[in-house]
Amino acid sequence: MLTLRVNGKVHHVDVDPDTPLLWVLNEQLGLMGTKYSCGIGECGACTVYVDGENTLSCITPAGDVEGMEITTIEGLKGPVADAIRQAWIEEDVPQCGYCQPGQIMAAAALLNSNPNPNDDDIDAAMSDILCRCGTYQAIRRGIHCAAKRYNHEKK
Ligand code: FES
Ligand code: FES
Repeated sequence: MLTLRVNGKVHHVDVDPDTPLLWVLNEQLGLMGTKYSCGIGECGACTVYVDGENTLSCITPAGDVEGMEITTIEGLKGPVADAIRQAWIEEDVPQCGYCQPGQIMAAAALLNSNPNPNDDDIDAAMSDILCRCGTYQAIRRGIHCAAKRYNHEKK
C-alpha cells in the first residue's frame, strides 16, 4: 500500500511501488488529464510536478514519490495557470490536444520561474515536450500572451 499526495489530497493505493506514477494517476485515481504517449520518457506528454519540479510520470515509480506533493493538470491552479488557460483559448493553441496537458504544465513552470520569458527561454523550457501536430509557434504565442495577461493582472 502506498500513500500518495496528489493535488492536495492523500490517497492510499494498493499498487506495487515500481508501478509508474502515470498508471496510478490514470487507473487508480481516475485522473485522466495526464497523458500516456511514448511511455519511455521521450515526449513529455505525461509531465506532472513532484514537489514543484517537472517530472515524467511514465518513468517515475510511484514508490519513489510517496509523501511528496504531486500536482497534475487537474490540480494546476493560480494566476499563472488561469493566464495560460485564457491565452491558450485566445491564441487557439491546441490542435488534437493530446500533448497539451504536458505543454501547459511546462509553460506554467516556466512562467512561475520567469514571468517575462523571451523566445529563447521559451524554446529552452519547452523543448522536451513534443507535439506531433507541430503547434510550437502557437505555444510560443500562447506563452507570450499568458505572460502579458499575468503581468498585467499583477499590477
Ligand atoms: S509518455 Fe512520458 S515522456 Fe512520453
Ligand atoms: S496538439 Fe496534437 S500532439 Fe500537440
